[in-house]
Formats: sequence, structure tokens, C-alpha cells
Amino acid sequence: MNSQKDSSARWTRKDLLGLKDLSAEEISAIFKRAAQFQKGLSSPQTQLKGEYAALLFLEPSTRTRMSFEVALTNLGGHTLIFSPQVSSLEKGETLLDTVKNLEAMGIHFFILRSRENGLIRELSQKSSSSFINAGDGTNEHPTQALLDLFTLKEAKGKIEGLKVVIVGDILHSRVARSNVFALKKLGARVILCGPKEFLSDDLRALADETSENLNHSLKGADAVIALRIQQERLEARLHFTAQDYFKNFGLTEERLKKYASSNCVVLHPGPINREVEISSQLADSPRSLILKQVSNGVFIRMAVLSLLRLKK
Ligand code: CP
Repeated sequence: MNSQKDSSARWTRKDLLGLKDLSAEEISAIFKRAAQFQKGLSSPQTQLKGEYAALLFLEPSTRTRMSFEVALTNLGGHTLIFSPQVSSLEKGETLLDTVKNLEAMGIHFFILRSRENGLIRELSQKSSSSFINAGDGTNEHPTQALLDLFTLKEAKGKIEGLKVVIVGDILHSRVARSNVFALKKLGARVILCGPKEFLSDDLRALADETSENLNHSLKGADAVIALRIQQERLEARLHFTAQDYFKNFGLTEERLKKYASSNCVVLHPGPINREVEISSQLADSPRSLILKQVSNGVFIRMAVLSLLRLKK
């Protein structure tokens, strides 16, 4: 109970919109609360009792949507799934009017995924309800990066001083952006790696190094985060095939053995494309934290919901 007060004392926000905004102390407060849920030290079943939360996913999702649903259920809240294709958005109602109508029914948590950068922040500024960014275009995906770093910290005992390589389609990746912001705040050394058309100028300025040579980037790496090529966001045809990409940027056990530190771990936000950004063998190997990330995602999302609830 006291430790719950400790972490909430550092939490004053009504929303979770991105990790660029958060301090290292706020990130630690979320980790501390998530660890309490993970260890069964906090009794969650009634923390969101009587609360309604709407899951508004305007882009596809498996992990994030289902994991928020599990988290809300664990906290005793009611989840309402909003299906855009069968909603009155199809009749021309704006998203803001949709939110206002849902608020009028007593819903005060909005967990939103949108293709349009900045839309979630804009809605949150026009409402007193709590908004959680569950994927904001190519901008941020804060709960994904929080669960990535929570899992990495669990595996390595710390984040500070780790060499972390993020490889793949960095330009289109909201996961990469949130991870870079949080990893730098927590003191990691961050290397961004990918074909030049996938490297992003603004993240280049934040990273310790950018590279188009994965073997070189992996030297002494403690962790690698592999990213999917976001075909749905590409504006032009790629000048390489999936086979070329795997040869140059695909993660394999052999590549890690040869170049990375001996206990280098592998993360991926999912969904994974086997034999494109990661070999099937590596994805299913003991180095892989991929399913651990998914399990921890529930605790991280419970922690975020619980902190936002205490703020209300
Ligand atoms: N990592 C992630 O956001 O997965 P989903 O798109 O399945 O939610």
C-alpha cells in the first residue's frame, strides 16, 4: 500500500500520450507499479471497479488491444470495444463527437490507436477524460516501449550503460521513437541500424550512432530490438527484396554469435515476419524475449491504467 502511494506521488498526468514527455522518474514509477502487479504485491481486482474504458482502434492490432482488455479485466474495469467500421464514424460523425457521446454514457478512459499523427493528443486536450496512446501514426507507441524496457531491465538487471541496437524500419516505427526517447532517458547507448531509406533524421540526432551495417552495429551489443518493415506505411516500392533484406539486416543466431556480446538478448514488438527481420530459430530461442514482452505488456498496461485512475 505504501509503495503504491510512492509511485502515485510521482504521477500527476491524466493521460499517457508519449515517452518524449515523461521524466525518468515517471517511467520508474510505472515500472515499480508494474512490478507490484507482476509479483502479486498489489491487489488489482477492484482498482478500476465501476470504470468504463473504450478501446478505439482505428488501425489493426492483436497484442495491444487484447492486452489492454486483459489489463482492464484484471483491474475490475469494464471494456467496451469500439469497431470503427460498424460505428457512426461511417456516417460522417467526427471522432471528437464520438468521444463526447461516449463520455455522456459515463466512459472516461479512452485507449486509442490512430493512423494520424497527433490525433490522440488533440482529442485529449479537448476532454477531461484520460487518453492512452496505443499507437499514434508514426509518432509514438508508449506502452510498447515501456514493456520493452521493463522486460530488458528484468533480463539485464539495469538499462543504464547497455548498448541497445534498434534495427529495421525506423523511419515508420512509432515503437522505435518511443524506445529511443525512453532508452536515452534511462542512460542506454542507442544504435539505430537499417537501410538508408529507413533511417530517420530526427532520431539520428538523438541516437548515439546510426549505421547501415548491422554486423558493425552489433559489436558488443547487449540487446537488439528488431522491427518489422511497415509495408502499410511505405510510399514507394522498396529497391530490395525480402531475401536481400534478411541477408543484410535479418537477425540470426549465427550473426549474434559472431558479432554481439555472448549474452545479447533479442526483442521484437510483434507481429514478427519470420525469415524477413528475424530467423524463426532465433525468434524461438532462449535469447528471445518476445513472448516475455507480451506477458509483461499486461502488467505495464495495468500499471498505466492504475496510475491514471489514482490521478482522477
Ligand atoms: N506491438 C504491437 O503494437 O502489436 P499489435 O499491432 O498487434 O497491437
